[in-house]
Amino acid sequence: MSLYAIGDLHLHFQSPLKAPGQLRGVWKGHEEKFLKNCRRLMSPDDVLLLAGDHSWGRNLSVCEEDLAYIEGLPGKKVLLRGNHDMFWDAKKTSSLNEQFQDRLFFLQDNYYPCGDIALVGTKGYTFEGPYYLDRRGRITGWDEEAEAHAKKLIERESIRLKASFEAAEKDGYRRFIMFLHYPPTDIFKERSVFTDMAEAYGVKQVFYAHCHGESRFNDSLRGEFRGVEYQLISGDFLKWVPLKIL
Ligand SMILES: [Fe+2]
Ligand SMILES: [Fe+2]
Repeated sequence: MSLYAIGDLHLHFQSPLKAPGQLRGVWKGHEEKFLKNCRRLMSPDDVLLLAGDHSWGRNLSVCEEDLAYIEGLPGKKVLLRGNHDMFWDAKKTSSLNEQFQDRLFFLQDNYYPCGDIALVGTKGYTFEGPYYLDRRGRITGWDEEAEAHAKKLIERESIRLKASFEAAEKDGYRRFIMFLHYPPTDIFKERSVFTDMAEAYGVKQVFYAHCHGESRFNDSLRGEFRGVEYQLISGDFLKWVPLKIL
């Protein structure tokens, strides 16, 4: 059994695109490219973790074809919530898991077993501005009201991440791989509640998505930070080749 991961499929089989630019470049025919890559690399016993932003659909009924596409991918599919996943009410994760039992697993406040390792995760959150810049493009400040709001969301997501770790620990797991949709830090790449939690639980690898386009690929940690390895797995960054983790 192998573990693969990628994020940000941004499927839109039933939804009008919000960002038509996504039909160009690396996004052109990305659904076919990704399906082909999965079929080439994966076998039915493998696990595929999808790190959020699955669908542009605003509710479950307009995500049916997107979720059917995901179901049709090889392996067992584990889904993390992204900021665009409007179909996924954070308070109703268990009913989604009931509805899609044995077809899709929705990872939030719970964990997914992968051998003796627990896959843990949550959407996460990070402050993304607005930042104020001087004429040379240096940051001179930021919107403090937006920052205060971000802090609340970060706090809420840290509680969800802790619940995920605790659920796995309760069942005897001591080894974890951690997933976030949002990057673990803001653009200053300093310690956050998420990097602290990874360290506290002895996590060796953290994977996150959400950052699209070359100008955003270095928005957060990539590589080793305080003994933990961080990797970006957004689909356009990986060029629709799922990353083999185990
Ligand atoms: Fe995204
Ligand atoms: Fe996102």
